[in-house]
Amino acid sequence: MSEILAHLEHGVLSLTFNRVEKKNALTSAMYAALADHLEQAAGDAQTRVLVIQGQESLFTAGNDVSEFLQRPPASMEAPVFRFLRAIADFPKPALAAVCGPAVGIGTTLLLHCDLVYAGDNALFSLPFVNLGLCPEAASSLLLPLRIGHAAANEKLLFGEPFTADEAQELGLVNRVLPPSEVNAFALQQARKLAAKPLASLMVTKTLLRQPQRAAVHAMITEEAGHFERLLKGPAAKEAFGAFLAKRKPDFSGL
Ligand code: COA
Repeated sequence: MSEILAHLEHGVLSLTFNRVEKKNALTSAMYAALADHLEQAAGDAQTRVLVIQGQESLFTAGNDVSEFLQRPPASMEAPVFRFLRAIADFPKPALAAVCGPAVGIGTTLLLHCDLVYAGDNALFSLPFVNLGLCPEAASSLLLPLRIGHAAANEKLLFGEPFTADEAQELGLVNRVLPPSEVNAFALQQARKLAAKPLASLMVTKTLLRQPQRAAVHAMITEEAGHFERLLKGPAAKEAFGAFLAKRKPDFSGL
C-alpha cells in the first residue's frame, strides 16, 4: 500500500502519512509523492482544501534517518525541497491534524499550514541542534515570526519536545482535542472551508502569506546549504549513528 494515502471527497484532499512501522519517517519517495499531490492539487478545480494527517497516535518522526545518511538530498531539486516549495506555495487552505510525535519537519511543515488541530497526545520537537543539524523549511524565519524570538530560541537551541497545550499557548496550534477526534474535526473544518468561495479563500491566503513569500524561499535555500554541509559533518554522523544503534550520542570534542 502507498506510504502517502490520498483521498479527495467533497472538495477536500486528505493526505495521510502511512508508514506506521517506521513512525511515518519520511523518505524521498514519500516527499516526491507529497510534492506530486500538492502540485496537482494546486491547479485542480476539484480540490478546494487540503488536510495533512497521520494516525491517532502518530504524525511523523521526521526525515528518514537511514536514508538521510545514505542518500542525502543532492540538490534543491531533491524531493524534500520540491515538497517544501509546494507546501510553502500551496494556494488553497491547508490544514494539519497532528497526534503523537511530530518531529523535525513534522513540526516545521506546520508553519506552512493555515490551521493546525492537535491531539492532547501531540508532541512537537525541533531537534536539529541535537542531531548536529540546523533548522529547515524556513523555520528559522517563520518560527520567531509566529511564536516570538524568545520562545523560538528556546525551541530551536534546546530542541526539547513540547506538548500540544504549550504549542497552543505559543500560537502554533489552533485547537487541542482528544486524539480520537482530531482527524474528524480537521475534516469537518476543511469541509466548512470547502463550501466557501474558493477565490476569496485563495486571495485571503495570498494576502496573509505574501509579505513573507520571497523571504521564505530564500531561507529554505539558505538553510538547505547549511543543512547539507552539517549532515556530512561529525556531529550529525554521531547523532544518527547513535539513534540507529539505540544509544546516547556523545558530542564531546565536536
Ligand atoms: N528515520 C528512520 N527510522 C525511524 C525514524 C526516523 N526518523 N524514527 C523512527 N524510526 C524507526 C526506528 O528505527 C524503529 O525501527 P525498528 O523497529 O526497525 O527498530 C521504528 O521506527 C520504531 O521507532 P522507535 O524509536 O522504536 O519508536 P518510539 O515510539 O520509541 O519513538 C519517536 C518514536 C518518533 C519518538 C522516535 O522514533 C524518534 O525520536 N525518532 C527519530 C526522530 C528524528 O530524529 N527525526 C529527525 C530526523 S531529521
